[in-house]
Amino acid sequence: YRYLDLRRPYLQKMFRLRHHITSEVRTFLNQENFIEFETPILTKSTPEGARDYVVPSRLHEKHFYALPQSPQIFKQLLMISGFEKYYQIAKCFRDEDLRSDRQPEFTQIDLEMSFVTQEDVLQVSERLIKHVMKEVKGLTLEDPFPRLTYHEAMRRFGSDKPDTRFGLELIHLNDVFAQTSFGVFASVLSSGGHLEGITVKGGASALSRKDIDGLTDVAKRYGAKGLAFVKWDGQLSGSLAKFLQPEELSSLQEKADFQEGDVLLIVADQATTAYDAMGHIRLALGKQLNLIDETIFDFTWIIDWPMFEYDTEDKRYYALHHPFTRVKQEHQAQMLETPETALANAYDLVVQGQELGGGSLRIHEPLLQASVFKILGLSEAEQDAKFGFLKEALTYGAPPHGGIAFGLDRLVMLLGGTKNIRDVILFPKTTSAQCLMTEAPSTLDEATLRALKLKD
Ligand code: AMO
Ligand code: AMP
Repeated sequence: YRYLDLRRPYLQKMFRLRHHITSEVRTFLNQENFIEFETPILTKSTPEGARDYVVPSRLHEKHFYALPQSPQIFKQLLMISGFEKYYQIAKCFRDEDLRSDRQPEFTQIDLEMSFVTQEDVLQVSERLIKHVMKEVKGLTLEDPFPRLTYHEAMRRFGSDKPDTRFGLELIHLNDVFAQTSFGVFASVLSSGGHLEGITVKGGASALSRKDIDGLTDVAKRYGAKGLAFVKWDGQLSGSLAKFLQPEELSSLQEKADFQEGDVLLIVADQATTAYDAMGHIRLALGKQLNLIDETIFDFTWIIDWPMFEYDTEDKRYYALHHPFTRVKQEHQAQMLETPETALANAYDLVVQGQELGGGSLRIHEPLLQASVFKILGLSEAEQDAKFGFLKEALTYGAPPHGGIAFGLDRLVMLLGGTKNIRDVILFPKTTSAQCLMTEAPSTLDEATLRALKLKD
């Protein structure tokens, strides 16, 4: 009964807001001489890290179209065609695990430009967001959006989409515990891991034992083996207290501002897990201690992303953004030997701990594109089967180009003040990707299955 649900004033307001935002986006981009396009929906796979939704072809037995995960390849081809400024309010389809900010079909505000630097893309994006905030919310955002490198975001917030509305930054504690007698810490340190801590000022009274147990569960949910803590409440207590040497304590006072009345929480693990667990503990503490001001829009650019990420289970590299992203000029030479150290001209726009948009400069040279595909484990034959048309297109004089895509649904959520993406999508799917109203997905009758050659 979604159509009746939509009668509610709250939802009426949301969809009017959505319309207002979309029309302001169009107004701004038209003024900046972008041209609006519509790229195909029945197409070939565009990898953005999710599974494809596919459509069987009736005329070509055992052949399938893929629905676009994004218009990425098409917008790049349009740059080769000589359209210098593209935009699309684009439907995208991704078969992935759903969450409160993710739907299987969603909408992007998708941009691409030729002959641009990273700075040009960031500037036009910032003007777009500021235009929408002004026209829709009446808010004037004057300052340039702050920028953090990916590594700084991880180091300080344990996240590539940090919520910067509050402090509680992570403190790297390897040096403090170099001589520790605590076995867990010592073994993590000797295997090259990290000790990441957070000092909760006034935590001795603000955090109960039960709260700390709850935070330990958070740590474990994100892969940590535990959460060590020490509480300073007249005396020292907690799992770490009995191992703490006087010189370690004084070093913590200095390095971590750990004082009487505080609680110090520490996760010891390999870097990725230590950051992830501590990053989520930080968010949980932010909520629990009421440190988050919901009225602040902390738009922040995360720049200098690594190009590749090694997956220890699959034993291969993946592109952190996508395979068409440009490796920084000065890192292209080292890319083949040490892919994990190569940084890309890639950027995300983050707000309130959410990824609102992401983009990059692109590869416009066929050889560089082939090297990236090779690092991603694609043989020449696989490259040609999947992306032959793109590789060939790049030989016809591709201008340097780059762009970005914003999640329109997430922008509406942000301005509408909701945490649930279903409030801003007309006929949303459930977390198991069903539409309860139409009962999609559904079975097909025998005749249709036979016509599609899905059944003999
Ligand atoms: P990316 O995959 O980062 O980049 O997507 C861009 C933005 O789209 C939104 N988004 C989603 N919103 C709702 N539900 C989903 N399942 C979902 N997935 C993504 C996010 C995200 O920041 N082609 C590139 C962009 C580029 O390089 O220009 C791309 O698709 O807000
Ligand atoms: P254990 O020796 O496993 O009983 O753990 C002792 C204490 O150390 C408990 O409070 C655990 O939560 C904590 N702990 C265990 N593993 C880790 C880890 N990798 N990082 C931080 N604390 C841990």
